[in-house]
Amino acid sequence: MVYQVYVRSFADGNADGVGDIAGLISRLPYIASLGVDAIWVNPWYVSPLLDGGYDVADYRDIHPLYGSLEDAKRLIDEAGAAGIRVLVDLVPNHTSWDHAWFRAALDADPGSPERSRYHFLPGKGRHGQLPPNNWKSVFGGSAWTRVPDGEWYLHMFDVSQPDLNWDNPDVREEFIDILRFWLDLGVSGFRVDVAHALVKEADYPDAEDDTDAVLSNPTGEGHPLWDRPELHDVVREWRVVLDDYQEKVMVAEAWIPSWERLAKYVRPDEYHQAFDFHFLKAPWDPEAVRATIEGSVAATASVGSIPTWVLSNHDVIRHVTRYGLAPHVEERAWLLSGDEGRLDLDLGLRRARAATLLLLGLPGSVYLYQGEELGLHEVHDLPEGVIDDPVWERSGHADKGRDGCRVPIPWKREGPSFGFGDNGSWLPQPEIWSELSVESQDGVEGSTLELYRAAIRVRAERLGDDESLEWIDVGPGALAFRRGGGVTCLINYGDEPVSRPEGVLLLASGPLQGDSVPADTAVWMADT
Ligand code: NOJ
Repeated sequence: MVYQVYVRSFADGNADGVGDIAGLISRLPYIASLGVDAIWVNPWYVSPLLDGGYDVADYRDIHPLYGSLEDAKRLIDEAGAAGIRVLVDLVPNHTSWDHAWFRAALDADPGSPERSRYHFLPGKGRHGQLPPNNWKSVFGGSAWTRVPDGEWYLHMFDVSQPDLNWDNPDVREEFIDILRFWLDLGVSGFRVDVAHALVKEADYPDAEDDTDAVLSNPTGEGHPLWDRPELHDVVREWRVVLDDYQEKVMVAEAWIPSWERLAKYVRPDEYHQAFDFHFLKAPWDPEAVRATIEGSVAATASVGSIPTWVLSNHDVIRHVTRYGLAPHVEERAWLLSGDEGRLDLDLGLRRARAATLLLLGLPGSVYLYQGEELGLHEVHDLPEGVIDDPVWERSGHADKGRDGCRVPIPWKREGPSFGFGDNGSWLPQPEIWSELSVESQDGVEGSTLELYRAAIRVRAERLGDDESLEWIDVGPGALAFRRGGGVTCLINYGDEPVSRPEGVLLLASGPLQGDSVPADTAVWMADT
């Protein structure tokens, strides 16, 4: 079980309003108290921070806002001493425009070796004034930007994130060296950013569909940009490096529309894990959820692997809010309008707690995103003036972006930034987060924090390494399955209460009605 730390928003150790490694180290006891095996730290490298650090200027050093390499080493050591492994984020699809390679490419001539580490092309049109093709940036607008000598460079994300050319041997060697750098420092592995990008079709053909669909499942097969078969060769090279060390893992962030194609990423000589985003995107509907579980379990089993589940991360609307939105509301459009009449946060939290028992009851691996254990919701009403996500500007203010799930964690009931640090926080926290703070929930029976702690503990004790799952028919509206350790998980999606399975009640996500499980509630039952 891995806990995702968005370091900028986790804990601020030096009162500058921004989270840092010192703050994270000071909160290791809390992370240990959750019972997780590892943390994944979002990018903490030197960067102009034009995309929250996914624009890396130096892959081998830490941004001074977060600390130093010595601090990173101290974190790895102290986490290790507490039984927590550390995964770092690898960003191989693009660098920052501040990276030495890109600066050298800009200073060099068209056709130079420096330019060939990226995708530089002449434009179309009589004067080369049109982009080389129709590819669009995931963040909005064209994926091409022109430089003063007339060539264009590719950036699938922000203009400040030029895509690397993975056909270039320099790029391949450099990343193998970066992997070794961090493995030698003691990390346990990598979460790999946009793992389904990397390689682009050699002759840069126009795309037939919207190329900006990365976060909403691109079309996959045969696409000039996404999920190219050639990228698996790169992954195999990395795997050889990891296998030189002991017990190292790589997890792919790959938004792939089909399970069969996603399964290719977790073949025995490739990634150890790949997030299954179908599960995250599934509506509050038992059939849809069951289909995602079955699809993922079967596809990963076909290559001898297991699924990797996640409900929230730093790119998506927090799931308390997703589950609290009225049916058929388009989430990102809603975020922009902020229509509170369409949002029921009590319902969202009830469902989120039930979904947690489902998530932690499943076979496979689980990733949790900081703050979900507190039941935090998306901060949908951030004032425009504080928005930092490049999506906001690139979309022409048509998408508010992802800052609402990146608001700093409330640790205390009171005080500056609710204990995030001794000063303010880089994004404002809602007043109601006082009640959701760690201090308000710690040791409080029935709190969301204690539900997570209990479920993680019971999962470790009873579900162990057994990956079996057997569905039980409980009628429409609910899902139930039995796990090998004699534990049955039932989740009620319908309006009517459902009888609880036989056995001893281990956990309930909310109040029960006698022997019945009410709507939007889940239970875990044990045989004995
Ligand atoms: C996926 C990351 O999770 C996201 O935060 C980032 O903006 C893009 N990749 C580009 O690196």
